[in-house]
Amino acid sequence: MSSEQSSVISGQLSVISHQLSVISHQSSVTSEQQSAICHLPSAICDLPSAIPMIPISKPCIGENEQRAVQRVLASGGLAQGPRVAEFERAFAEYIGVKHAIATSNGTTALHVALLAHGIGAGAEVITTPFTFIASINAILYAGATPRLVDVDDSFNLDASQIENAITPRTKAILPIHLFGQPCDLRAVMGLATRHNLVVVEDACQAHGATFQGKRAGSFGMGCFSFYATKNMTTGEGGMLTTSDDAVAAHARLLINHGMRVRYHHETLGYNFRLTDVAAAIGIEQLKQLDGFNARRAENAAYYDEHLRNVRGMVVPRVFPQRTHVYHQYTVRVLPDFPLTREELIARLSERGIGVGVYYPIPAHQQESASHNEWAQVHLPRAQEFAKQVISLPVHPLVTDADRAYIVETIRELANRG
Ligand SMILES: Cc1ncc(COP(=O)(O)O)c(C=O)c1O
Repeated sequence: MSSEQSSVISGQLSVISHQLSVISHQSSVTSEQQSAICHLPSAICDLPSAIPMIPISKPCIGENEQRAVQRVLASGGLAQGPRVAEFERAFAEYIGVKHAIATSNGTTALHVALLAHGIGAGAEVITTPFTFIASINAILYAGATPRLVDVDDSFNLDASQIENAITPRTKAILPIHLFGQPCDLRAVMGLATRHNLVVVEDACQAHGATFQGKRAGSFGMGCFSFYATKNMTTGEGGMLTTSDDAVAAHARLLINHGMRVRYHHETLGYNFRLTDVAAAIGIEQLKQLDGFNARRAENAAYYDEHLRNVRGMVVPRVFPQRTHVYHQYTVRVLPDFPLTREELIARLSERGIGVGVYYPIPAHQQESASHNEWAQVHLPRAQEFAKQVISLPVHPLVTDADRAYIVETIRELANRG
């Protein structure tokens, strides 16, 4: 038997053993669910449904969430009401701030955070391009201009580049705690104080993460997303966090048509409200967040231990003084790995392992930005990382058997190509 044949057979055996382990550990994901959660090109997502996928993300929704939603439905009060107020109180307490203001999603939270600080036309906001596009779009919605700087090895804003990017028009820094690891908030807050700048934290992927023992989202104005793939979810939803009374009051006006007294509109506002149905889910999810994050951290530690020495693969680097909540477990595939990143994705997908590429194109290289002056920058690390990254399933529903299978498959591909 040739080595190629034996590698095919060994691959098939490990797929079969994975199928058995998935069937015994969790319900399999249909091809429809798989393509809903898989952010890869459809050619890769469009797999035969016979292979059970370990999905790249899967919400943990239990009976408590179902009962809580049923109670709201039975109450007849479906829009914003007491459940939103309760969710806001609990979230503010969890983050360690005075105020939490629920929003319709993370994008509207970011948009309102900028507006609530008076950031608009003519202002520049310093941020990074290696992110989900919402971080950048929120700046554009506010009428301001992104001023992009490069990232460091943690995929976050490289704080040493901020000072050079400050101009007389700079009004804010918008750091993104990408994949669940806070950026260097000490440096960011120090620079913001020195230059009198607002800090809006994009904590949409960092629920519960800490920097020097304090939660992400408690340094500047925090913006969270509760999209279905996040560490905690409400389906769609978001939250703003701050201890500044005036900014909180302004944000509250903006999310509700500028209205404090019914049908009296003090300012131009929006309908960015969360519903009680969503908040009921959020209250139950928040109670479990630390447990969810602990399981993510366990899965990440397992990958670190078993993938650290794989040639051509770089496991995530966690910087000191922070806790990472592993919204994503993102490795980099270097040229000395025996397969290209795209080949690795295809092989993992064939073997039932859902992977994601977050993010394949930095914001300044997106088609939507091509005519903008702010996008005419060269940011080598962001551009390089976009070509190298893949994220592995790390969510709480990844079983011990799943992660062992994922590691075994990657190690085998690393050895045989
Ligand atoms: C880094 C980042 N910023 C902003 C957002 C926007 O959040 P949402 O999808 O809830 O609007 C997301 C969510 O995907 C995100 O990951």
